[in-house]
Amino acid sequence: MTRCTSFRGLRACVLAVFVVTLAGPGLADNLRIPAPKLTPDVERRIDALLERMTLADKLGQLSQQWGGETQDMNPDARQRALDDILGIVRAGLCGSFLGAHGAEYTNVLQRVAVEESKHKIPMLLGNDVIHGYRTIFPVPLGEAASWDPDLVQAGAAVAAEEARAAGTHWTFAPMIDVSRDPRWGRIVETAGEDPYLGQVMAVAHVKGFQGGDISAPDRVMACAKHYVAYGGAEGGRDYNTVDISMQTLYEVHLPPFEAAVQAGVGSLMSAFNEINGVPASGNPLTLDKILRNDWKFRGMVVSDWTSVTEMIAHGYVVDPAHAARVAITAGVDMDMCSFSYRDTLAESIKAGLVDEAVIDLATRRVLRMKFALGLFDNPYSDPDREARVTLSAKNRGVARRLAARSMVLLRNEDNTLPISTDVRRIAVVGPLADNARDPLGTWEGRGRAEDTVTALAGLKARAGSDIEITYAKGCETRGGTADGIPAAADLARAADLAIVIVGESEDMTGEGHSRSEIGLPPLQQQLVKAVHATGTPMVVVLMSGRPLTVNWEAENAAALLEAWHAGSECGNALADVLFGDVNPSGKLPVTFPRRVGQIPFHYNHKNTGRPPTEERYTSRYIDLPSSPLFPFGYGLSYTTYAYSDLQVATPRIKADGTLEVSATVRNTGQVAGEEIVQLYIRDLVGSTTRPVRELKGFQRISLAPGEEKKVRFALPADRLAFYNPQMQRVVEPGRFKVWIATSSAEGLEGEFEVVR
Ligand code: GLC
Repeated sequence: MTRCTSFRGLRACVLAVFVVTLAGPGLADNLRIPAPKLTPDVERRIDALLERMTLADKLGQLSQQWGGETQDMNPDARQRALDDILGIVRAGLCGSFLGAHGAEYTNVLQRVAVEESKHKIPMLLGNDVIHGYRTIFPVPLGEAASWDPDLVQAGAAVAAEEARAAGTHWTFAPMIDVSRDPRWGRIVETAGEDPYLGQVMAVAHVKGFQGGDISAPDRVMACAKHYVAYGGAEGGRDYNTVDISMQTLYEVHLPPFEAAVQAGVGSLMSAFNEINGVPASGNPLTLDKILRNDWKFRGMVVSDWTSVTEMIAHGYVVDPAHAARVAITAGVDMDMCSFSYRDTLAESIKAGLVDEAVIDLATRRVLRMKFALGLFDNPYSDPDREARVTLSAKNRGVARRLAARSMVLLRNEDNTLPISTDVRRIAVVGPLADNARDPLGTWEGRGRAEDTVTALAGLKARAGSDIEITYAKGCETRGGTADGIPAAADLARAADLAIVIVGESEDMTGEGHSRSEIGLPPLQQQLVKAVHATGTPMVVVLMSGRPLTVNWEAENAAALLEAWHAGSECGNALADVLFGDVNPSGKLPVTFPRRVGQIPFHYNHKNTGRPPTEERYTSRYIDLPSSPLFPFGYGLSYTTYAYSDLQVATPRIKADGTLEVSATVRNTGQVAGEEIVQLYIRDLVGSTTRPVRELKGFQRISLAPGEEKKVRFALPADRLAFYNPQMQRVVEPGRFKVWIATSSAEGLEGEFEVVR
């Protein structure tokens, strides 16, 4: 088979492959999507529908628009808006909405679709259920910090249960972009900088959202996004150019998407960004050759909001008609909100610029997912079920556990934490302490501030009557004045312990919210320093959607905890951790740089020809240490662990062999704890240079005080593969290092060799 490595060459290859795909299998011969309802009979029903549908009907199915509730309008405007939406449904002009919520409202839309439209095709209702629907979980970067895929999966299952009950069939999640740039606002939505952790979290979310049957009343179809390499935006500036090597595309950005496809994700969302000059929403390499031909994906692809017509601004297409042709031909089945499919493809087909078979294939894929979701048999939602499952105690319990596990203890001098039983008065200060909205983070779904257990409320509830909790806001999250800082400092001065809760407002993170500086806002820094000056032991709690360059706090706080935007149960989870009911086990899924000037700065970097030392002529900055503030994989506990006795049972393995390595981990402290034991490797010599470390596995172990366990890893040599200069995926013979470690910056080191 010819190697399609140049893009021009690729287009030829893809077109050839694309023609083959058109005549390809009907029902997926190796469908991985959990869809027992996709029986052979379904293909016949789709064939029959396609026979009856006009081109306009098909283009309607390929169009998605905002069908959001109108509850914030006045009754007259609301009725007009609803009549417009129902008219669109009745005419079959749109087969999918986003923004429609609630069993009652969505049933109104669905009833018109199923009973009054020409072909009685149900609507496919999608929404951004990113980290919870009404019960809100930690932001995904926080979820990843738990390194607990089972718990993340449970959280996604809760989100699916609440969303489906409220009429949402399809979530535009998980967001599985890999990001190495904390200036990027959307790093908050990712699993951080590592492709392997990204794969693990992608699979956990897909399984949680979809379960074993996406037609079930408590499951939704997932959507792996943003396909692909959106996290590679230059400068961490949202929507910016992505110019990366093919090795970086294949080794860093694609793996979580391949894992999601292997896990059976039902859909993908094509991204806004270009990839080396070709926009992701019109890219035949990624959308057809890789996704359809190599990975055998059988689900559907939706564009990200107007990313189809944004190819005009990219300078890749001339006009909406050209954009629509390029996107549909490359493999974007459904157009979100650009209307270019509905408005221009009929003309393009009449002009012979697009084959109607392309439209039929896309329509088949969309109809197939509507059948898979059971919408033809059960199009409606049950308002009673919605009331019953939403914000249930069970759901809140999962959110509380995941929030506590997501928190990362970064510093704890003199065992300041957990809070000592001697403490009688705690001053809680800061703009995020009694704050119900910001802890829900960005993409808060249908989460409501009134549902949030704030940090202050959680701490008060846990302190009970034995401990006095005083509170002062001190300053605003952003802007405002320093007027409140003295009063906050006075409270701290009069207390046994000060807990300063600072960080980012939710709108400092997320889409369109990239930051050029990533420290605490000045007044918050001033508040922290004023509290520190009182001499009262100070715990700094960060609530953020990204790493922060908290150099001063990392040096001067008695304890420092990254709590992220932790969701509806943030206060209870924070109290669980600070009072020691939960021993923190979180590990950083992303490097904390000392300064923005170090970025991009990630643990799995290359060694260069002059790795950084104190020497002048090495790869370093003259005004900053070459190390991070906190490394990937780092996180402390209330206990301590000792790693010993690394054993490489297989010092020489073949390319089809398995590396077997183990080490002993002992709890050398006074309290029980859970440790995330990490496995890293380094390929010392390769036909393309290799990172100085690569995460290849991790295990969570529980250890009582004094207990030790032998932790074993069995790593198939295939997991050592990488792409050589000819873009062939290879496992090359040679020497490797291996670590079993508590973070990416340390660990027990061993060696092994891959032999022919
Ligand atoms: C947004 C985001 C995407 C989201 C979509 C629908 O612009 O990029 O993540 O799913 O539009 O809200």
